[in-house]
Amino acid sequence: MEVVILNGSKQIARLAADAAEDLLRRKPDAVLGLATGSTPLPVYDELAARHERDGLDFSRASGFALDEYVGLPPGHPESYREVVRREFTNRVNIRPENVHGPDGAAADIPGACRAYEEAIAAAGGVDLQILGVGTDGHIAFNEPGSSFASRTRIKSLLEQTRRDNARFFSSLADVPHHVLTQGLGTIMDARHVILLATGAQKAQAVRDFVEGPVAAICPASILQFHPHATVLLDEAAASALK
Ligand code: F6R
Repeated sequence: MEVVILNGSKQIARLAADAAEDLLRRKPDAVLGLATGSTPLPVYDELAARHERDGLDFSRASGFALDEYVGLPPGHPESYREVVRREFTNRVNIRPENVHGPDGAAADIPGACRAYEEAIAAAGGVDLQILGVGTDGHIAFNEPGSSFASRTRIKSLLEQTRRDNARFFSSLADVPHHVLTQGLGTIMDARHVILLATGAQKAQAVRDFVEGPVAAICPASILQFHPHATVLLDEAAASALK
């Protein structure tokens, strides 16, 4: 695992966007793994700017979201399908039919999870996965205790995560309790993983997954076993590292 400490979220965004741009120039039909939450937003801004300014081309690329809430009505502004569309894919020339997310409104949840795994495999697997990390060490919505072998499935959110995400909703009561999420095994199949963390509120989780033991209690720690994992931190997120 390569850990890079940078001077703020703009520098982090530039480095992550460089990796995506290099990939797209080498492999125009690249498969991008898309995280939601606040941390990757500057990366999406940077990629949208490069598309606008330099013609960075996404016309043959595809994207797979990491996760989705269960129980939000279709088109809800905080559903991750909508967030991915609004924050990133609508701003570049990726084809809407090439942007995928787990179907949190499916009647057959296990079937929808299997179909999502099959869709990722049919696309050839994820080339570059962008990740954030939760204050409890989760990646995607694999909360502490998640199996390292897990695939896309339904999970309950911990109260800590619901509280962390309440800022996106009118009240804590509106934050769904369940999500569909790629598993840790799914994420580990991505060929390159870039995890971004900014702010002091992530410092303990960063220390745990970078320097602590690989243990299910800290899901992001599995990235220590990934053959090509890059961790981009600002100084606050890196402040608890030894
Ligand atoms: C979102 C996701 C989550 C977030 C994490 C950090 O798709 O998978 O793991 O990356 O909760 O969220 P932020 O970036 O809002 O602190």
